[in-house]
Amino acid sequence: MKEIHNFTIIDRQQRGEHYFSLVLKHGGHMQPIAPGQFVEVLIEDEPRVMLRRPISVHDVDPEAGTLSLLIQIVGNGTRRLSLLQVGDHLNLVYPLGHGFTTDLPAGSRALLVGGGAGIAPLLHLAKELKAKDVQCTILLGGRTASLIPVCDEFLPYGTLCLTTDDGSLGHKGLVVSHPAFAESYDMVYTCGPTPMMKAVARSAAERGLRCEVSLENMMACGVGACLCCVTDTDQGHRCVCKDGPVFDISTLKKWYQC
Ligand SMILES: Cc1cc2nc3c(=O)[nH]c(=O)nc-3n(C[C@H](O)[C@H](O)[C@H](O)COP(=O)(O)OP(=O)(O)OC[C@H]3O[C@@H](n4cnc5c(N)ncnc54)[C@H](O)[C@@H]3O)c2cc1C
Ligand code: FES
Repeated sequence: MKEIHNFTIIDRQQRGEHYFSLVLKHGGHMQPIAPGQFVEVLIEDEPRVMLRRPISVHDVDPEAGTLSLLIQIVGNGTRRLSLLQVGDHLNLVYPLGHGFTTDLPAGSRALLVGGGAGIAPLLHLAKELKAKDVQCTILLGGRTASLIPVCDEFLPYGTLCLTTDDGSLGHKGLVVSHPAFAESYDMVYTCGPTPMMKAVARSAAERGLRCEVSLENMMACGVGACLCCVTDTDQGHRCVCKDGPVFDISTLKKWYQC
């Protein structure tokens, strides 16, 4: 069930030059949140930002009643959020959207490919897959080292591989050129810049691998009312906020083939 709620910030960490993370406590009964779902964040005290901003849920601790967000500072809204401190409140609409498929059999192999801020939803996903005994390879990339947030927290959940276009961290090149990408998997998941996700989707389709992508179209309402986030799928137009953000690539041939 969707809820509008004031969370309390109980931790804030700078995660490299361009990123920070917030841990938010509900204080009551937090709704269940599936990997790949997102929240719409109210930006207060910033007159230049009228609309809520969509941010993926990075991590969830249902017992503690907390969720965390990993945010890249790109504009006025995210810059305002970066100024919040422990003890401040953050108003969220959550949980939103349709998340990743996680019902893989124990012993399956999954590849999680993230780029830039698209790394955010993959931690909650990796944790859930690990709990189901799925073997995860987590392949994270960016143009350069400073555009990849500190991501040691992935280490307990799978094999972590890093790539940068300029070779400043990990393997030099695009994520699809990493040797781990060429291995065989039962499922490929990806979230990040559109050209990266299209390259991952095309390659997965050529190799006959199941693949889900999490689209990051611009959004306004976040609940399917304004139609500003619509994408063209093989089944017609779909709202990324409500029908996605996660889509199986078998429905997105028009999207990844162009
Ligand atoms: C479902 C979903 C989940 C997301 N999850 C995360 C997350 O976990 N962490 C995170 O850091 N960001 C995430 N984003 C992107 C985030 O919503 C935007 O970066 C944010 O709205 C920018 O707000 P702003 O006011 O700081 O920047 P603005 O002033 O609105 O924009 C600054 C610049 O960023 C560009 N921009 C804004 N939104 C997007 C977007 N969605 N995709 C590409 N470029 C954009 C604008 O074109 C502009 O050039 C997500 C987006 C979606 C749709
Ligand atoms: S953001 Fe309004 S319909 Fe998707």
